[in-house]
Amino acid sequence: MTTELLGEPLATNAGPPDAAGRPAAEADAQADRRILGLRCRACGRPEPLGPSYVCAGCFGPLEVAYDLDVVRSVLSRATIEARPAGIWRYLELLPVANRPARGLPVGSSPLLAAERLGAAIGIERLLIKDDSRNPTLSFKDRAVAVAVARAVDFGMDALACASTGNLAGATAAAAAVVGLPAYVFVPADLEPAKIDHALAYGATVVPVQGTYDDVNRLCLEIADERGWGFVNINLRPFYAEGSKTLAFEIAEGLGWRLPDVVVAPIASGALFTKLARGFDELAAIGLVERTPVRFVGGKAAGCSPVAGAFGSGSDIVEPVRTPDTIVRSLAIGNPADGRQAVELARSSEGSIEAIPDDATAEAIRRAARLEGIYPETAGGVTIAAAEAARRRGIIRPGDEVVALLTGNGLKTPDAFRFGVEARLAERGVPGLAAAIPASYRAFEAWLDR
Ligand SMILES: Cc1ncc(COP(=O)(O)O)c(C=O)c1O
Ligand SMILES: [Zn+2]
Repeated sequence: MTTELLGEPLATNAGPPDAAGRPAAEADAQADRRILGLRCRACGRPEPLGPSYVCAGCFGPLEVAYDLDVVRSVLSRATIEARPAGIWRYLELLPVANRPARGLPVGSSPLLAAERLGAAIGIERLLIKDDSRNPTLSFKDRAVAVAVARAVDFGMDALACASTGNLAGATAAAAAVVGLPAYVFVPADLEPAKIDHALAYGATVVPVQGTYDDVNRLCLEIADERGWGFVNINLRPFYAEGSKTLAFEIAEGLGWRLPDVVVAPIASGALFTKLARGFDELAAIGLVERTPVRFVGGKAAGCSPVAGAFGSGSDIVEPVRTPDTIVRSLAIGNPADGRQAVELARSSEGSIEAIPDDATAEAIRRAARLEGIYPETAGGVTIAAAEAARRRGIIRPGDEVVALLTGNGLKTPDAFRFGVEARLAERGVPGLAAAIPASYRAFEAWLDR
């Protein structure tokens, strides 16, 4: 589809047919060799590539298996660097044969030196991966892009998700681009901005009474009954792969190196654990040297089953039944990849930090005021987790630390005021103060008040 306005051709969401510029048949043949299928993470049983997510043998989670020797033979730093910006630069490390014909421009977000924020939290070499700048303002666009590419290949006729908020907008927008209906299931008391966002893209939003875990349970049943492509349920093995692109971009952004520490938020734990897998794959195909990375995860104190398990040294992630936090995007009480997240934090000598809501709100304000980056609550948790890990000596002086800000503060507009409403009102922050008359005298009086 081409759109024309006053004779000027505009860009459309249709990308070039193949990131590598090869004929489609060749790309398909190569994909057949490099993508081995699905494999059970628990027992290793192979399963054919399809919209399935649990092992028929042991009910363990399925993930995508690659032949990394094939990938190594076709993917070099130079190949990647010659490609257009976006997640499809790393096509051969994703479970898709070709760059999708249509899709949003996702990824290649900036990696920024955050000296002022770093100084405030005691980390000299702090870098921010600003993933709040994706098409729907969160990193979920990465996961959804990969899941939707597969859903289209599988010929599914509707997309859906169980969402803590950001996934709702990401799924709705991606469905709009490929012309499929979207059904988005959310806890009924979600932030209104996130619901409006999904509605604007034309999705059917289904508010459900209860927590995210209640929503998720319902969606498991709907996925079975309806056969819709639930990006984070029956398409989960593909969805989860999308998060690896953050690891690829971090390594490429550092000049094909790994950082000392990565700090990321945890909801289900998919993002956190796939960062490690992304780094591992780059090392396995020889694009980076395998150097140790400590993984620091952040969770809200009011819903922190993984932080609890990490802190107590236990392998058992005890579900939290009723989350109590402003950090709605991370409020998953029974995280699917929780145990793996705890293992990763432990084995890498990182940590999982439980962050109180007032510290999250303070971290949002600091990122915005010191770096001009306005993160949503998950980003506040991440900055506060970096600070906590530094205080506890997990992050050491001189470490190169990459913190992932994965969502945009415009979606959680109340969070930056949390805990300081009275103080902000006194200072006359717009929206809280009374309006002044349109006169210079009135403005002077307002300044002197
Ligand atoms: C902004 C943001 N960051 C991070 C996460 C964590 O996602 P995951 O489920 O992969 O742990 C979420 C999940 O919804 C999110 O919305
Ligand atoms: Zn199994």
